[in-house]
Amino acid sequence: MAFVTDDKLDLLFDPKLIPDSVRKLVGSDLHIRPLALSDYERGHLKVMQVLTSTPDPGKEAYQEAFRRMQTSKPASYFILCIIDKSKDQLLAIGSVFLEYKFIRNLGICGHIEDIAVDAAAQGKGLGKKLILALTELSESLGSYKVILDCSEENKGEPGRVGSIQDFEVLTASLPSPLTAGFYEKCGYKYKGAQMAKYK
Ligand code: ACO
Repeated sequence: MAFVTDDKLDLLFDPKLIPDSVRKLVGSDLHIRPLALSDYERGHLKVMQVLTSTPDPGKEAYQEAFRRMQTSKPASYFILCIIDKSKDQLLAIGSVFLEYKFIRNLGICGHIEDIAVDAAAQGKGLGKKLILALTELSESLGSYKVILDCSEENKGEPGRVGSIQDFEVLTASLPSPLTAGFYEKCGYKYKGAQMAKYK
């Protein structure tokens, strides 16, 4: 499939919000951009399967969810994709959600969520670039801190790099040595425990 430029895509947010420093993180064979409405057809949900169960809700429901995020006020949903330009293929996808607070002088907190690197593209530095990109984007949009949850559990397939599976099981957690390895290399530090209650 031929690479589609940003101006021809219906994007989740204005690509001008992506700082130049973030664009420079990826080489000339790759491109970083906001999630596009047409990424449903580029296998967005298939890439997310490396993280957790991501059933296909159907194109219409996908598009509704996209529009809900795209029109949220204040803008809170920022999903970045790293694309292989030669195939117009999604290689890595991750999001940062902006939470608007009263504390910290009406501070903004960025929550990194749902990081997935296509199985065939793992171990080549894309995950780290994605985390750095989301962190920098969040900071450029005003966040005073960026946080993320990663699981103590490591239930990935044997032999796969970075298999930090089953994020449904968000227990009060210490990071697994594997996750900690990855996130520490992205500049993150362990800070407290997380609690969760699932219905
Ligand atoms: N354990 C220890 N170190 C690791 C691991 C790991 N599991 N994975 C990567 N690293 C190291 C690499 O060796 C590399 O080190 P270096 O900079 O010294 O060379 C560095 O971390 C960066 O690695 P990348 O190649 O960028 O990692 P990758 O592109 O494979 O992405 C990721 C890592 C995101 C975990 C990927 O493997 C993946 O998608 N896994 C399945 C889904 C998942 O677990 N997502 C994270 C969920 S957490 C969340 O969503 C907030």
